[in-house]
Amino acid sequence: MAEISTTAQLPPSGDKRGEVGERLWAGSMTAITLLLVGVVVYTSAHWGFHPPSQVETIDSTSLHEGGEFSEANLGTVIAPDGSAVVRVVAQQYAFVPDCLVVPAGKPVTIRLASADVVHGFLVQGTNVNAMVVPGYVTTVHTMFKDPGERLMPCHEFCGVGHQAMWARVRVVEPSSFPSDANNKQKAVSCAP
Ligand code: CUA
Repeated sequence: MAEISTTAQLPPSGDKRGEVGERLWAGSMTAITLLLVGVVVYTSAHWGFHPPSQVETIDSTSLHEGGEFSEANLGTVIAPDGSAVVRVVAQQYAFVPDCLVVPAGKPVTIRLASADVVHGFLVQGTNVNAMVVPGYVTTVHTMFKDPGERLMPCHEFCGVGHQAMWARVRVVEPSSFPSDANNKQKAVSCAP
């Protein structure tokens, strides 16, 4: 009667080398994956990077006809707690208003809608950087520490005038903020 072995055969020595290599490969891939996950967690927690959330739709073809993004509402309003909401329309080839005024050291919410095609915007020297897609409202929450002026270019190719599409963000001390902004009926932008 033949003997039946219940223990697995050990691989010949050549396969052993392969196994070592495979373990090394699996180990280094696991380490890289953990490193990348660590980078995501670190940038989210420490630098406040986050993907856009909150899908909010809007009819981009009728922005001018009234509602949140009608002309009188564009610019900055200050809430009783001192925080600011800035409403901006992105269109070929300008941001309206083209100069945003915001208080330093206060929470700032920027809300943008596109009147035509896909635009993008970033504020120089900050982590504010988002797309503006027709049909959706882009909302960014941020805070500007120091007074000063920053550029806000469109960074998504939107047509022949794309390179000329940019705005400025003027960060001012809350005490020197245009007083009209405290009246919630009137949005303000940079003084001419
Ligand atoms: Cu708008 Cu490029």
